[in-house]
Amino acid sequence: MSSLLEIISLSKVYKISRGLFTHTYHPAVRKVSFSIKEREVFGLIGESGSGKTTIGKLILRLEKPTEGSIKLRGEDIRNMGKEYTKKVSAVFQDPFSSLNPYMKVRQIIEEPLLIHKFGDRGRRVEDVAQMVKLPKYLLDRKPQELSGGQRQRVAIARAVSLSPELIVADEPTASLDATVRKEILDLFAELKEGGISTLLITHDIRAVERIADRLAIIYSGMLMEMGTKDQVLKDPKHPYTKYLLENVPVRHPKERKVRVQEEGVQEVIHKGCPFYWLCSQKMEACKQSIKEEVLDGRFVACNLY
Ligand SMILES: Nc1ncnc2c1ncn2[C@@H]1O[C@H](COP(=O)(O)OP(=O)(O)OP(=O)(O)O)[C@@H](O)[C@H]1O
Ligand SMILES: [Mg+2]
Repeated sequence: MSSLLEIISLSKVYKISRGLFTHTYHPAVRKVSFSIKEREVFGLIGESGSGKTTIGKLILRLEKPTEGSIKLRGEDIRNMGKEYTKKVSAVFQDPFSSLNPYMKVRQIIEEPLLIHKFGDRGRRVEDVAQMVKLPKYLLDRKPQELSGGQRQRVAIARAVSLSPELIVADEPTASLDATVRKEILDLFAELKEGGISTLLITHDIRAVERIADRLAIIYSGMLMEMGTKDQVLKDPKHPYTKYLLENVPVRHPKERKVRVQEEGVQEVIHKGCPFYWLCSQKMEACKQSIKEEVLDGRFVACNLY
């Protein structure tokens, strides 16, 4: 499997205004590097606020990186024109707000085809509906007349309509119940067989267990561990990965019993490990720097190794 999308030392710092004349900076993504291969489901896992959506937005060119770059088949995505939106498409968490309520399903799926002047659009809409197992009779309904799972199938049909190489799926099953969630995840596995890779963004490490090939774990905008699904789930190395696996479902950071101490946070954010305050195996060195290691082909950012 060769590399499809390469993320190289990507950082995104948001400027947050604190009043009329003052502002502060928030590093949402910090020097993150990974690559997504052809025909793979790549899981990007992290808790709320860890920077997952920001990485998705940077890949979709909805945000500009502060530093670093992204390459699709070796070409910097900043230099690519409209054809990039054909090659990389998106599916979002809430199909209620991402689908236009005034359009029929048929028009929703057709819209990207129109933008890219696709030939036989009527036929293509029916083909992709079939591909995502959306019954034909639903094409003439509006999104609000569909179930949550059916709406997400519409969003996926729209995303695959132009035969992309990669789908960025940001929490695509978070609003669905367990049975429908499984069906939608299976769909991404089937699309992979058809040659479409997926970046599957989720806070739920168990949700990707069945279908992901490789996983990247991020915390506070930093890549903590990355490897094959078995490496990460069956033999986790990073204390944060272990923490995630022991605390499923992951609590919202605000609900944690152990609160991050405010004092010294800035220092650690800029130099050391962001997981320092919660880590059961922390060392003095972790306040200052993090060692990055590759162990049996898996990446770990931790001073224990
Ligand atoms: N436009 C923005 N301006 C300022 N800060 C932002 C902006 N977008 C995101 N952030 C901050 O960046 C951090 C990462 O946000 P992001 O939405 O990427 O997290 P996430 O991992 O997707 O979280 P969730 O699981 O809740 O969706 C958060 O602290 C967030 O508050
Ligand atoms: Mg998000």
